[in-house]
Amino acid sequence: MTKLDRREFILGGAATLAAGASASAALPASKLARRHQGYGAAATLWDLQSDPRLGEAISTYCTQVVPVLELKWPMLRPDAHTFAFERADAILDFAQQNDLTMRGHTLAWYHDIPDWTKRIKDSKGVERAYVDHISTVASYYKDKLTSWDVVNEPIPDNPRDVKDRRDTFWTQHLGDRWIPLAFRTAAAADPYVKLAINEYDIESAKDSFIAKRAAYRNLIMELLDQGVPLHAVGLQSHLHAELEIDTHGLAEFVTEIRSWGLEVFVTELDVDDQKLTGSPLERDAIVAKRVDDLLTAIASSGPVRSVLTWGISDRYSWINGYVKRPDKQPNRPLPLDGEFKPKPFMDVISKFTKDV
Ligand code: G3I
Repeated sequence: MTKLDRREFILGGAATLAAGASASAALPASKLARRHQGYGAAATLWDLQSDPRLGEAISTYCTQVVPVLELKWPMLRPDAHTFAFERADAILDFAQQNDLTMRGHTLAWYHDIPDWTKRIKDSKGVERAYVDHISTVASYYKDKLTSWDVVNEPIPDNPRDVKDRRDTFWTQHLGDRWIPLAFRTAAAADPYVKLAINEYDIESAKDSFIAKRAAYRNLIMELLDQGVPLHAVGLQSHLHAELEIDTHGLAEFVTEIRSWGLEVFVTELDVDDQKLTGSPLERDAIVAKRVDDLLTAIASSGPVRSVLTWGISDRYSWINGYVKRPDKQPNRPLPLDGEFKPKPFMDVISKFTKDV
């Protein structure tokens, strides 16, 4: 790629994306009819701009989209004085051109904190940067997004008890206040967007996952008792194909969360099949079973209104960059294969979402 000025490249790419999208926006009704109500996928601007098949697939099957990177601190905040909204705006453009809604990910996370932020030494300065970020970003996207993952992954992977919270840069400076402060700041900036908390590894039947789910439940209850403006609970659902879903425990958890008046979102669904042996078709069947068990547990207390996969095609999955299968075969974690052909996983999405 020639050395383009960042802004020209992004805006040029956005124009291409929008032009491509406007072509998709003229999609024949038959194609739009394959959309699954409430189903969405995550994408990066880079992948959307470099492969038209990705935008086409999202526009065909989805009614919502979420940026993988473009609303996180590193992309938005190259320095203390800059808010670089253009990349996320380009994805929002793509969404609007394709009659898709967009959700935000994520305002406060222990991961992805820029070096300039971590160089702030005094806690008052950290709090100013934290509140300024959340307030500015949530205000800028006011009335443009359906929901935000306000706080991402607050629970440690092996909680010692239900009061255990992950030790983060934010807790070091703000204590446990970092969670309510994020929600209250976001709600003040945009009183209408749905505010969610988001966590992973609480879905399968494994002791540490059951402990994590108990700690997550306790945190959610505490936040509601404090009157924190929390509207939804995100289950990231990065499933492990070798682990059974804890269908009974998960159904109980979701039923209780809903009884507290909260919505339940599946926010980052994919199935890591690195430990599965067998043919791709055999692996695909097990992957689809895990998704079916997950959505069956959630649907036991009400419809699955929002389910997003973390990507839509195996060609663009973080998992293939993160873990390698012993047989060196690519992972098959998503509803479409590397050539954008639907797998049984997509049939399960269709089963639990109403076709529009
Ligand atoms: O694009 C740059 C590349 O130019 C550069 O050479 C390279 C090395 O620095 O970095 C590349 O950017 C990486 C980006 O992914 C694109 O691949 C970032 O370093 C890397 O940190 C980023 O990782 C993302 C991660 O969140 C952190 O933001 C993953 O793609 C993304 O899938 C992952 O998503 C998370 C959710 O936000 C939260 N739940 C778990 C989920 C999976 O880990």
